[in-house]
Amino acid sequence: MKNKIENVASLEDLQALYTETFGKNGTMTQKLKNMANLSNEERAVINAENTELRQLFRDKQNELEMAALNAKLATEKIDVTLDTEPKNRGTIHPLTQSAKEVKEIFESMGYTMMSGPEIEDDWHNFTALNTPEYHPARDMQDTFFLENGNVMRTQTSAVQIRAMEKNGAPIKMFTIGQCYRKELDATHSVMFGQIEGLYVDKIEKNINLSDLLGTMRTFALRFFGKEMEFRIRPSYFPFTEPSIEIDMKWGDKWMELLCGGMVHPNVLRNCNINPDEYQGFAFGFGWARLAMLKYGLNDIRAFTDGDIRWLKNSGF
Ligand code: DAH
Repeated sequence: MKNKIENVASLEDLQALYTETFGKNGTMTQKLKNMANLSNEERAVINAENTELRQLFRDKQNELEMAALNAKLATEKIDVTLDTEPKNRGTIHPLTQSAKEVKEIFESMGYTMMSGPEIEDDWHNFTALNTPEYHPARDMQDTFFLENGNVMRTQTSAVQIRAMEKNGAPIKMFTIGQCYRKELDATHSVMFGQIEGLYVDKIEKNINLSDLLGTMRTFALRFFGKEMEFRIRPSYFPFTEPSIEIDMKWGDKWMELLCGGMVHPNVLRNCNINPDEYQGFAFGFGWARLAMLKYGLNDIRAFTDGDIRWLKNSGF
């Protein structure tokens, strides 16, 4: 009997053998039933046999169950280190990535990010920026007008006005956003991003053009990761006096980096800030221009074409 149990190879066979032994008419069951007529010694032998056999069945059952479990684990094993099917992963758009970097740099210099609406009124987009109606400088920007007289904002400079109206001075803010002009060719797109900054403080602080240049050098060092060579040209904007443009040496070429200047006293006055007490600088860059320079991209229209193949190959 012991051998029989030992040689059983499956749980089903073990169950059958168990029934043969301990079932209603099982061999062991019979022996136990007939014990009444036996001597104490004989009973003791049968009891011992009963106990031993039950233990052997239990052990064998455990052994077979264990073997079954191990076999199952072996066949159902999952190799978690195996590569999965390649999936198309999204990438961060170069404009988004550059905006994030610009934001970090200006915030670390104490500038607060602000925003304004893309549909602007005439006051914020032009008049308060010292560009009243009939001012010839309005022609510098081909404007989309809405029927109610509002405009698609042509410049993020409008946010300077909103910021000063809201917070007064001193103020140190920047904004990153889209602007719109009726221009479309290889180097212009109807919608384009600008980055704008403004720093106005008490006149005693003597914020001046060299501070603007220093700020831009620091910005460029952080953004492009190396010291850049600059060139300053005089320029004209209604909202700054004097106005400048700053070029940056890029390879063997000079690239226009940004426009800026000292905030015109009329602009401060329009925001209820006294120009005898406060002065400061403002600046504006092309958002895509920055991203193109940094990441070596060359077609401004590609940024908004939404062609995923281009985005994939743009290094992101
Ligand atoms: N708003 C100007 C433009 O779109 C750029 C600009 C020039 C912004 C001078 C400024 C500034 O803040 O001071 O052409």
